[in-house]
Amino acid sequence: MRRLRPDPIPLDTQARILDAAVRAPNGGNTQRWHFVAVDDPELIREFALLFRRARALEYEKFSTGTGPMVAPAPGADPAVHAETMRRMKGSGDYLADHFEEVPLLLFVFAIDDLGGANIYPAIWSALLAARAEGIGGVMTMVLRNFKDEVNELLAVPVEEGWTMSAMLALGYPLGKWGVAANRRPVHEVSSRNRWDAPFGVEVPQPLWPQPDEPQSSRSCPPSTTWWPVARLAPLA
Ligand SMILES: Cc1cc2nc3c(=O)[nH]c(=O)nc-3n(C[C@H](O)[C@H](O)[C@H](O)COP(=O)(O)O)c2cc1C
Repeated sequence: MRRLRPDPIPLDTQARILDAAVRAPNGGNTQRWHFVAVDDPELIREFALLFRRARALEYEKFSTGTGPMVAPAPGADPAVHAETMRRMKGSGDYLADHFEEVPLLLFVFAIDDLGGANIYPAIWSALLAARAEGIGGVMTMVLRNFKDEVNELLAVPVEEGWTMSAMLALGYPLGKWGVAANRRPVHEVSSRNRWDAPFGVEVPQPLWPQPDEPQSSRSCPPSTTWWPVARLAPLA
């Protein structure tokens, strides 16, 4: 969710989001993480300028084929991938153009994040906790292109080994919640017992609840599970 309202996020809500983050698993329970919440409009304006420059740099890398994450997965439909990229760019453009309106940036720092493995559980917990509070967000990494500037703006003690892992833009959503778009379904990316054997069930459509879906069509109360069994198609 990159289309966010400027309304501030109350401090107690921010506390719940970060409390969820610090419960995340991490190797050896060393908890070598630090979160910097940025809500100072002047600072957000500075990061907006940097963010737009960083994105331009990323798209330059995409266009020259030198950036990460440009190639679709083996077997994926290139046309679907192209559509994903198009939508992602549109949504990313919106965030870049309205960056000054984002009420809260959450910078996540780690020491030795093991290629992200040691920090992504905390990041994802924060994003899930935010969503449970009705707050949307997106994890971004483009500002790592300007990590020195970020470190300076936030007075990060880099001599202790801290590195920026990600920046989350958080806010109440402008639009409607949707299911994450353009994902290849479970049965196309899963198998059982060996790589090329079928997973055993097909999932023709997303199993997450649609916002307007009547509760009666769900197999259980929404707080218990999100899986309407009727949408699963067992393999013959
Ligand atoms: C490692 C990682 C880095 C990401 N970096 C960015 C980023 O710099 N900017 C951005 O707008 N989104 C970023 N994202 C979000 C993805 O672009 C997003 O998950 C993808 O476009 C699919 O969109 P959806 O999750 O809203 O369906 C990142 C996600 C991950 C996991």
